[in-house]
Amino acid sequence: MMKTTWQGIIAEYASFFGSPDPREAVTLQEGGTPLIPLETVVREIPVPVSLWAKFEGANPTGSFKDRGMTLAVSRAVKKGARALICASTGNTSASAAAYGARAGLRVFVVIPDGKISRGKLAQAIVHHATVIQVEGLFDHALRIVREVAESYPVALVNSVNPDRLEGQRSVAFEISDQLGSAPDYHFLPVGNAGNITASWAGYKAYREAGRIGTLPKMTGVQAEGAAPIVLGHVVEKPETLASAIRIGNPASWQGALTAAQESGGSILAVSDSEILEAYHLLASKEGIFCEPASAASLAGVLKRARAGSFSGGERIVCTLTGHGLKDPDTVFHSQPPEIRVPARKEEVLAILGFS
Ligand code: F0G
Repeated sequence: MMKTTWQGIIAEYASFFGSPDPREAVTLQEGGTPLIPLETVVREIPVPVSLWAKFEGANPTGSFKDRGMTLAVSRAVKKGARALICASTGNTSASAAAYGARAGLRVFVVIPDGKISRGKLAQAIVHHATVIQVEGLFDHALRIVREVAESYPVALVNSVNPDRLEGQRSVAFEISDQLGSAPDYHFLPVGNAGNITASWAGYKAYREAGRIGTLPKMTGVQAEGAAPIVLGHVVEKPETLASAIRIGNPASWQGALTAAQESGGSILAVSDSEILEAYHLLASKEGIFCEPASAASLAGVLKRARAGSFSGGERIVCTLTGHGLKDPDTVFHSQPPEIRVPARKEEVLAILGFS
């Protein structure tokens, strides 16, 4: 019997999307990402809990953005759009570039100069997007593209476009299906705050449809140097090595607060060194390579665990939002010294300790 393949979120969850007809979707078969048990890292937590990573790096362009982009681009095409525009810290632009290429649209991406990782920049370039680097922050870039899209015939595909958030709800559907119910806690990194807003909407829609009975506590994690929601004010000069979430004035600020409050969750901040600890734990102990911003979710879990927030028995999911290959520089900045020897077996054996 032929195994049916995953068709992408619009087809798989058609009843949750009024349009488009799945046969007309612009899709790269996004979604259907693995929910991986973290059986080694969970030992870092002092009480017995269950811990999983929803590995969104397994999406076609290597991040969760594809879930929203398939819907936003499909609907833009239906409305007759010829061009797309977005501001980005890198992943939205990579995804817009890919889905735009697939739909035959022109794509303009506006990014903070020198502040997005090289893998993401390569993605925008290879898909033939026009890359505009602005000498400023993501927050400035977003303001510009919002104004442009208001007055000119280019479709805005940032998460201020509600189609993006509607598509991104699908991660909550999948986690619920994979676990058989909603988890007790869902941790995720927060930048522009669209994803926490969308994930919460997804769980609520799934409960309304009778697919799950309970809802998770939504826990958003910001980087300490870019934590406007935790601080309660705009951060003029956000700074963190997690460039994907280097945002000082998130568009979905209120959505994040609502998700945390309604669900009984919270928003917390973690330091760059806590992010790196989680990043290296995932890579070296679990075989999972995610980008630094993604590891903020696990860093948040570990921080809460060490503060005694869990009593035991909780089921915890953290979203790993993007693939580590997007940002190889972070690895090279912390790698051990290179080993280089003459091309002789004896030299290699000596390193292995067999001489
Ligand atoms: N993780 C990664 C890898 C991201 O790229 C982003 C956002 C986030 C987390 C935060 O998600 O913004 O919905 O709170 N990246 C956007 C971009 C801003 O332009 O690619 P959020």
